[in-house]
Amino acid sequence: MTEKGNILMQRYEMGKLLGKGSFAKVYHARCLKTSHSVAIKVIDKDKILKCGLMDQISREISVMKLVKHPNIVQLYEVMATKTKIYFVLEYVKGGELFKKVQRGRLKEDAARKYFQQLISAIDFCHSRGVYHRDLKPENLLLDESRNLKISDFGLSALPDCKRQDGLLHTSCGTPAYVAPEVISRKGYDGAKADIWACGVILYVLLAGYLPFQDKNLVDMYKKICRAELKWPSWFSSDIRKLLRCLLHPNPSARISIAKIMDHPWFRTGLDERLFDYAMNSTENIMPVDMNLALDYLNANTVEGNQAVEKLINLNAFDIISLSNGFDLSGIFEENSNKTETKFTSTNTVLTIITKLEEIATSLRLKVTKKGGGLLNMESSKPGRKGVMSIDAEVFHITPNFHLVEIKKTNGDTLEYQKVMKQGMRPALKDIVWAWQVPADGLQLELACLS
Ligand code: ADE
Repeated sequence: MTEKGNILMQRYEMGKLLGKGSFAKVYHARCLKTSHSVAIKVIDKDKILKCGLMDQISREISVMKLVKHPNIVQLYEVMATKTKIYFVLEYVKGGELFKKVQRGRLKEDAARKYFQQLISAIDFCHSRGVYHRDLKPENLLLDESRNLKISDFGLSALPDCKRQDGLLHTSCGTPAYVAPEVISRKGYDGAKADIWACGVILYVLLAGYLPFQDKNLVDMYKKICRAELKWPSWFSSDIRKLLRCLLHPNPSARISIAKIMDHPWFRTGLDERLFDYAMNSTENIMPVDMNLALDYLNANTVEGNQAVEKLINLNAFDIISLSNGFDLSGIFEENSNKTETKFTSTNTVLTIITKLEEIATSLRLKVTKKGGGLLNMESSKPGRKGVMSIDAEVFHITPNFHLVEIKKTNGDTLEYQKVMKQGMRPALKDIVWAWQVPADGLQLELACLS
């Protein structure tokens, strides 16, 4: 499926491999509808399940929905099949920042610009309670205008693959960017650990090599824990002072983001617009669950729809998990005995329920609204196996996205299938977003959901 030229879910033409990790590969791809480039991260579900890392994937989905910032790679959409999870991401054209550093250390002004963008993104995330915890070179990309983009928020705790290419790419488990308190497993403050990593990154940008290095891992740990720093001759006294504060071994004495942003070295040539974004952006200020909770409230008050009351909130990952043993292909497909059908809709609960009621009435079915997004439809005359009864239930996924489950609860299966095929399915077409995915999977449009 991920071979070059292959079409993924009838929507993306897969391109070349951009990067590879233990659990995931990232490919260039082109959206067939818009021709826009995207990056598709293909995660191997088997490996993730075996390592018990499903929760982290779930976290990445939630976190990436939460953080929309010009210096953070955006998650557009999540899709899944039986064996794979696909993250459709903003494509960042300019490659890794650290490939650039490998070609030679940066001048102070260039390093400062990237550091300012890094801190702007980190500040934005921290203000929303999101900590990266694994900032490292592989996660810093450059776009075509040479702006920095942080990738892999939330997946950060996934151990990445080994990198073979030396200096700046560290092997799996090498703590080159890890704060002393993380190494000593004391329990740590995510914000302070991120600030330490920013300090290491700034050092690397300016020096062209890592601040704490040793062939022997134990000796490297010691250097980190003592924050044993050596200064290249070209480091100015201002930068040395700032790095000392960033790379303070005691997290409580380490500089805060607010103080970094006040530091004279940091403020030099600062594009204040960088921080306007964080100040002005209320769009993403609430955690995802909070948004759902609010929507739940709105649905009750704005639409006055009591049916919404008992709706459950599912995130994209819950939907993925809904199907047995993560057998995602089953999720929107009619099951084998075909007494159950699911579809998704971008309409409101009220519209969905009203439409179902309207169709059922036209099919001469007796309708009972049970509240909580539940509707029952019954045939007027008993058939071979008694009265045919169908339940429809609307599940709230996000403000604009609902999952509808229709299932036979009594009566003859053939009668149910006839009603569905000839009556219900064609009449629902105006409100159905997806009945059934292409043969190999399920699509969850996160971009339009959030
Ligand atoms: N490599 C990893 N993620 C990427 C992305 N979003 N764009 C380009 N290359 C990448």
